Amino acid sequence: MDVRHAIAVLLSTTLLPVAGHALERPESATNVAQNYVLFCGGCHGDAGRGVPHKVPALAGKIGRYLHVDGGREFLIRVPGVANSQLSDAAAAAVMNLCLEKFTAPAERAGIAPYTAADIAAARRQPMLEVERVRHALLAQAGVGDAEIAVDY
Ligand code: HEC
Repeated sequence: MDVRHAIAVLLSTTLLPVAGHALERPESATNVAQNYVLFCGGCHGDAGRGVPHKVPALAGKIGRYLHVDGGREFLIRVPGVANSQLSDAAAAAVMNLCLEKFTAPAERAGIAPYTAADIAAARRQPMLEVERVRHALLAQAGVGDAEIAVDY
């Protein structure tokens, strides 16, 4: 074994596990974006457009909840977020990325970024009637029944 080969072997056995572990660490921008793709994008799509009749769009849509009582909390109590495998901190980071990508600056103005503690609290309060809560919040936000019915 020449020296270069020996170094390559050493690197692959010692550094790769470290690189793998880094994915669980808080929270480089790259990791957060990857977590969105891995844990959310399969359903909501990388661009947050959702799947007609199955999964709601996030892009251009989640801002509607932010200024309604309980709306900011609703967005992290949905099963896709609360029941995800992400740690509290990683889920908070993904949701903050969603706010940044999928809401307009005016919509998110004055809205506190999500924290790990927010996610932990949401996880202690499972939401059983998602559809009913969703409907009530959108109605409060001024979205008409007809539009809610075709929302996704
Ligand atoms: C298995 C598919 C699936 C996955 C994975 C998923 N979601 Fe969802 N998401 C849904 C569905 C369906 C809804 C509509 C509410 C419901 O029935 O749960 C929803 C609702 C939402 C909402 C509320 C928007 C609205 O108008 O109802 C947000 C915010 C959200 N998801 C974010 C995420 C994030 C962030 C992730 C990744 C951590 C994620 N979701 C993973 C399917 C999914």
